[in-house]
Amino acid sequence: MNAAQTLQPPPLGVRILGCGSALPVGRLTNVDLEKLMDTSDEWIVQRTGIHERRVFDREGRGESTRTLGVTALKRALASAGMTGADLDLVLVATMTPDMMCPPVACRVAAEVGAGHIAAWDVGGACCGFVFALNSLAAQMRTGLYKTAAVVGSDTLTQHTRYDNSCRDTAILFGDGAGALVFQTTDDASRGLVAQAMHSDGSCWQDLYVPQHVQDFYGEVDESLLSTVRMNGRAVFKFAVKTFQDLICETLDMAGIQASDVAQFICHQSNARILSAARDRFGIPEDRMLVNIGKYGNTVAASVPLCYDELMQAGRLHEGDLVMFVAFGGGLTWGSSLWRL
Ligand code: ACO
Repeated sequence: MNAAQTLQPPPLGVRILGCGSALPVGRLTNVDLEKLMDTSDEWIVQRTGIHERRVFDREGRGESTRTLGVTALKRALASAGMTGADLDLVLVATMTPDMMCPPVACRVAAEVGAGHIAAWDVGGACCGFVFALNSLAAQMRTGLYKTAAVVGSDTLTQHTRYDNSCRDTAILFGDGAGALVFQTTDDASRGLVAQAMHSDGSCWQDLYVPQHVQDFYGEVDESLLSTVRMNGRAVFKFAVKTFQDLICETLDMAGIQASDVAQFICHQSNARILSAARDRFGIPEDRMLVNIGKYGNTVAASVPLCYDELMQAGRLHEGDLVMFVAFGGGLTWGSSLWRL
């Protein structure tokens, strides 16, 4: 390839060819939580919209961030009529890798039979899937990779404590994985239309997982090492504003109205945050899926889980504009507008 070709890549489009998801077998209902801490089904449903969540079981069933990711990707490949051998890039968005090393993506790629391809993990907490989506689209549009996958997989319940000291986070999180498979196309109108990615590390303490005593913000409590710490009210306020700002920013960049978007595929953190965004933009219920009731907040998995559910229900069509929107620890927030 000569220098001119490197600098001026062909304008390629990117199609989403398949999707899949995987959920742990274990269920934890609000009634189960009532037995473990001072809370109630009524309080949880009213404040979050959550009825139950799935919880992984590493020892008994061998479930993990990796195994859930592998299953989701195998299902996505099957729905695309492909095998792992067709892939040349796998990204795994996660904040709960099974181990610090190796990256989850390397083992996921190997276990779907992808061979010696590019594979790495993407952070970004609940925003990880959207950040990975934008990174992947940028690389595919240049023709660098032709067939690729993004997996969102998380098992944050391992960093959650089911007692009164953590009742604000224990009610929120669940485990799961989702995956999308992509391929380049000569039709440059398909794929990424607009994107936004932001962060504000000065608010890191609103959502973090301390690994060392030095990590604590404020009072040190060694019994809470490796446990999610969250300032729920601050995150809630940030999320309501950010979701709406992000949607505005992305619509403006694309020069379109909210009514032009067929589906807003949003991170599921709290049903009230989603309904505030719906009210602000006049988005009808059937254009913003809310499935948090069944799964809780599944971190990087929540966006692809929504995509898969919409696809299974026949609610996504070729040519549709869809907007992926997420926010998370960091703090991070991002969007990705696609023409399917
Ligand atoms: N059951 C019963 N009462 C509870 C519970 C519970 N599980 N948790 C907290 N409370 C109590 C509080 O102690 C407080 O009592 P007080 O008034 O006596 O102090 C009262 O309920 C109200 O607490 P708030 O924190 O004001 O409740 P709020 O309505 O804000 O709901 C919640 C709390 C659900 C955590 C909400 O703040 C929220 O959803 N925040 C956003 C969280 C979020 O989205 N996090 C994920 C980010 S994504 C990522 O990257 C992982």
